[in-house]
Amino acid sequence: MKRLLVTGASGFMGSRVVDFYGGKYEIWAPGHGELDITKESQVLKKLQHWRPDYVVHCAAISDIGQCEREPERSWAINVEGAVNMAKAAGEVGAKCLLCSSDQVYAGSSVKGPHQEREKVCPGNLYGREKLAAEERCMEVNPDSVSLRLSWMYDSRTLQQGEHSDFLRTLLAKLKTQETLRYSPNDIRGITDVNQVAENLEAAFTLEGGVYNFGAPGSKSMYHMVYSFFERFGWDKQRLEKDQESYGEKPRDLTMSQAKLNGGGIYFADTQERLEAVLTDLSW
Ligand SMILES: NC(=O)c1ccc[n+]([C@@H]2O[C@H](COP(=O)([O-])OP(=O)(O)OC[C@H]3O[C@@H](n4cnc5c(N)ncnc54)[C@H](OP(=O)(O)O)[C@@H]3O)[C@@H](O)[C@H]2O)c1
Repeated sequence: MKRLLVTGASGFMGSRVVDFYGGKYEIWAPGHGELDITKESQVLKKLQHWRPDYVVHCAAISDIGQCEREPERSWAINVEGAVNMAKAAGEVGAKCLLCSSDQVYAGSSVKGPHQEREKVCPGNLYGREKLAAEERCMEVNPDSVSLRLSWMYDSRTLQQGEHSDFLRTLLAKLKTQETLRYSPNDIRGITDVNQVAENLEAAFTLEGGVYNFGAPGSKSMYHMVYSFFERFGWDKQRLEKDQESYGEKPRDLTMSQAKLNGGGIYFADTQERLEAVLTDLSW
């Protein structure tokens, strides 16, 4: 059995990666206490000892607001931690997949779908950290693969300590009397985390570099949610346009699939997949 090291396995994505590949790979999923990614020599020593064939590096400060509130800590984890993992993986000959983000495109004035080779312009510290991590990981380990993930969701019940996501927030709000507000100025892909987990194995064979790794999409958040209201017969009075968010500077985070498809990896369309997941849920 090949050996797979998953960091951040107590988190949203890492836990699904472990669930998905357990049984097929020998997995080591150390907690933060067992492997602190900010400690360069500890990381190297532990990887030299366990000798993984593959590393899926999910550990991070994934909350954009928390990065702004704790800039030094988040830089240490999101940049230095990623570099430590990429470097150590390179030294032990393990293929290293790193989680980057579509937030690297957030300040761009170029319309999507964005391409990996574009000059990117992150709109916040989290995005700048992810971009710095991509660049520095490539320097220390040119065979490493940085995956620009989009916002991810799952339909399973929220676990204790787990952050919520687009789908589960939508479902929770639908159960209340609250008005739902989404921006018509925010266009992005949103990806089923289970499809991300499933596609990682194919990503083990990608050449080193940066890849968009999320579902295609073309609708604004408002227009997509509106389509669900129509499709499922929900009360449209409860849905409002949030004109303030991104009103002055519309945002388009959609990502081109061309490079990824060239590597034989495909994601389902954002709206189609969400519609299918919503259809499968028992109401
Ligand atoms: N979720 C999304 O929609 C999304 C979208 C785009 C990109 N991403 C990226 O995808 C990756 C996974 O995201 P996620 O949502 O699964 O993150 P998450 O749920 O916030 O989990 C983060 C994990 O990182 C661990 N961690 C933090 N600091 C650490 C350290 N110094 N050493 C070792 N482990 C540490 C945490 O463990 P403790 O709790 O024990 O500290 C936790 O297990 C991240 O790189 C994120 O930036 C996520």
